[in-house]
Amino acid sequence: MEIITSKAALTEHINALIESKKVIGFVPTMGALHDGHLQLVKRCVSENDVCVVSVFVNPTQFNDKHDLEVYPRNVEADAQKLAAVGCAILFSPTPEEMYTEEERNTTFEFDFGGLDKVMEGKQRPGHFNGVVQVVSKLFKLVRPTRAYFGEKDFQQLAIIRRMVDLMNFEIEIVGCPIVREESGLALSSRNALLSEAERKTAAKIHAVLAESVQFLSQTSLEELRSAVVNAIDATDGLKTEYYAIVDGKSLRELDNWNQSDDIVGCITVHCGNVRLIDNIRYK
Ligand code: PAF
Repeated sequence: MEIITSKAALTEHINALIESKKVIGFVPTMGALHDGHLQLVKRCVSENDVCVVSVFVNPTQFNDKHDLEVYPRNVEADAQKLAAVGCAILFSPTPEEMYTEEERNTTFEFDFGGLDKVMEGKQRPGHFNGVVQVVSKLFKLVRPTRAYFGEKDFQQLAIIRRMVDLMNFEIEIVGCPIVREESGLALSSRNALLSEAERKTAAKIHAVLAESVQFLSQTSLEELRSAVVNAIDATDGLKTEYYAIVDGKSLRELDNWNQSDDIVGCITVHCGNVRLIDNIRYK
């Protein structure tokens, strides 16, 4: 596996791959890789000639400085994991390499068509501008045929699909299912910040969501929403930030089950100081 830290060296490699008609698959990450990421990478390796992975903790998508500082980083361990599953190129630039001074100091503007006004977008102003800024830049550098994203970040996936349409990228966006611990806790780099006890408590999030699916035909959407929030908040150490039941494409919050055929419940819960997200498909 090649480890590349400069845009110029990456461009040289990509030019050679494209000239020799290789199909490039791409997995953008912020590192601290866990099995969820590795599932994306394995799929990318199996569906393309060459798999490129980026590890870059993107400062422009953090609206909270403290969150950026404590975000787990371990590029050496990441490189070993990636080499073991067949990644061909690891691109791991510094923020100074990735962005010009001007890019770092100007707010990137993108028309999200309202997708950023709900859920994570409401709670983390500017977050999705930063995500689109870095992913569009990475897409232009890597020029992949396919790019792989986890469905855990449901809103991010919807926004990336919109970006690809609006910016005319000829890239297939492949959404991959959430990978969970045996306890049901969705794998996340942030889980590394949980204590052992918190990790057990956090498993309750998926347990409550999974159970709620059974009540779909018996309760109104609002009753079910409140029941989920109450059950999670009744658990010592957990506090729901929001639970939104939305249309899977527009991310519009719904009032009743007949409003859409594509319904997903998206949740953010604080477990101690750690902010965890998860989701469940109802329809
Ligand atoms: O999902 C993530 O890890 C990040 O938001 C991404 C897509 C790598 C952009 O920094």
